[in-house]
Amino acid sequence: MKKMVLERVQDVASLSKEGIPEEYIRSEDEQPGSTTVQGGVLEVPTIDMRDDQDEEKLLRAIVEASKHWGMFQVVNHEIPAEVITKLQAVGKEFFELPQEEKEVYAKPPGSQSIEGYGTMLQKELGGKKGWVDHLFHKIWPPSAINYHFWPKNPPSYRETNEKYAKYLHGVVDKLFKSLSLGLGFEGHELKEAAGGDELVYLLKINYYPPCPRPDLALGVVAHTDMSFFTILVPNEVDGLQAFKDGHWYNVKYIPNALVIHIGDQIEILSNGKYKSVLHRTTVDKEKTRISWPVFLEPPSDFEVGPHPKLVNEDNPPKYKTKKYGDYVYCKLNKIPQ
Ligand code: OGA
Ligand code: NI
Repeated sequence: MKKMVLERVQDVASLSKEGIPEEYIRSEDEQPGSTTVQGGVLEVPTIDMRDDQDEEKLLRAIVEASKHWGMFQVVNHEIPAEVITKLQAVGKEFFELPQEEKEVYAKPPGSQSIEGYGTMLQKELGGKKGWVDHLFHKIWPPSAINYHFWPKNPPSYRETNEKYAKYLHGVVDKLFKSLSLGLGFEGHELKEAAGGDELVYLLKINYYPPCPRPDLALGVVAHTDMSFFTILVPNEVDGLQAFKDGHWYNVKYIPNALVIHIGDQIEILSNGKYKSVLHRTTVDKEKTRISWPVFLEPPSDFEVGPHPKLVNEDNPPKYKTKKYGDYVYCKLNKIPQ
């Protein structure tokens, strides 16, 4: 008989009917049951992108949210609902394939790239684990894509993801433009400083199986994204939380909305004017949560630092300028930047 290796959370979940293994139990100061703000007084802003008859108002909303929350949801973003529904459907179908079929796409051991099917990215202190499996692959630019990590099953996976990437460009450009104007730049300047047409779109699918003790476990542990920014599609199961002024807030599910996260590279490029958001995810007792973040990143050898226009004698750089690949290496290995 084939021995089952309990590497994937999906396998652990299928065997955990009441309790959960000890390595998934968070320390008390992290447990979502006792650390989440109850009864939503404040929430992550929702921004209507069709407000562009009043361009000034839309701009202000994006800039304020990026400074104070580092996270916001956008509605009326011009990505058709059926494009998002299809993206969700093909990703879900992949994760519902038999385990052996998914392992074909496993990230090769020792590989330099993060692409592939896997479990847990960062080494956690205390050996704790998140209740989540994932698949990573790039979806843009075409020259950066490695189709080896794109599921062949379901057969429409490729076409669906290519279509989503195509529709994302409009949202990416609008966000860069607003963030650029918010810094007092011309509309095109921030995206250019971020790598322009070399920008890489890295898709991740997070798959959070049902968990018998959602009060004790976390999906993705608290972190900020390394990207410039991240555009995330969730499914209908709540779980994303944002940290603001010392508290954890649930991010409510809005059908067809995109959740925008300001990442570390925009914080650096803006010399701290925009804030990358600390966030984490909880899991559900009965339902499977799935999310589709796309991380907007520069190529690995591209240097990012505070924009020269924002730095002078009175405003010294608050961050080092370094290659993105070096930034990622330090962050994943917990080496100070
Ligand atoms: C991530 C992340 C949030 C979510 O994968 O970086 O923060 O809602 N995911 O799954
Ligand atoms: Ni994240």
